[in-house]
Formats: sequence, structure tokens, C-alpha cells
Amino acid sequence: MNIPKTPSAVLACAALLASSNMLAAAGENFDAEAKYQATCFACHGTGAAHSPEVGDVIEWEIRLEKGLDTLVQNTIDGLNGIMPRRGLCVDCSDEDLRAIVEYMLESSK
Ligand code: HEC
Repeated sequence: MNIPKTPSAVLACAALLASSNMLAAAGENFDAEAKYQATCFACHGTGAAHSPEVGDVIEWEIRLEKGLDTLVQNTIDGLNGIMPRRGLCVDCSDEDLRAIVEYMLESSK
């Protein structure tokens, strides 16, 4: 794995270590907010690359009309060549990504 030495990659590694200690089970021990800050925030907290910003109620209301499953699937697969596959989170399981998307939606009400 070729991980660039960016702060977010360092955080991602720290989280990976922490979660593997706890059996890496998605869900209970996964800190969606911390992971969002470490990986997704670079785009979704700033609107970089025309990302839908977390906190933009209308934007996320419209996106949620596709259904949560579609939003999660588009996170996993990437979207339109500008939303990167898995949001660049190298150690997120599908369940982790779902938890982050739920966190993002929850923060955009
Ligand atoms: C490099 C910038 C970038 C990063 C990093 C990023 N995103 Fe995105 N994301 C985008 C852009 C741009 C779009 C809008 C794509 C479009 O609508 O064409 C998007 C769209 C989305 C959507 C909406 C999908 C839909 O169907 O409308 C979700 C959900 C999402 N991102 C989740 C995440 C999560 C979770 C992470 C972190 C694990 C993440 N993104 C990291 C740029 C990014």
C-alpha cells in the first residue's frame, strides 16, 4: 500500500490500529465523526471540487431523495469521477462508510 504521509493518512493509520485492537468490527467502536474529519472533511467540509458541503441542508435533502442505500453505494463506488472511490478512506469497511454517510446526513439537517 502506498500511503502518502499526509496528516489524514497518519490519522487513518492510527484509527486502523485502534480498530484492529478491537477486532475491527464495524459499528460500535467506529468513530464516524473522527473518520469523517480525517478523510471526508477535506472536500465535504470545504466544498472543494464542488463537493456537497456537510451542513448544507437543501443539498443533502435532495441527495437523500435517492435513498440512503444509493448514497452509500455511490460512496463505495465513487461518483462522476470527482467523488473518489470509498472517499479515499483506505481502511473503511462498507459499514464504516455507511456510518460516516449517516453522520454527514445527521449533520446536515
Ligand atoms: C476529493 C474530494 C472528496 C473526498 C475526499 C470525499 N468526497 Fe464525497 N463527494 C465529492 C464530490 C465532488 C461529490 C459530488 C459528486 C457528484 O454529485 O457528482 C461527492 C459526493 C458524495 C456523496 C453523495 C453521493 C450521491 O449519490 O449524491 C456522499 C454520500 C459522499 N460524497 C460521501 C463521502 C464520504 C463518506 C467521504 C469520506 C469517507 C467522502 N465523500 C470523501 C468529493 C469528495
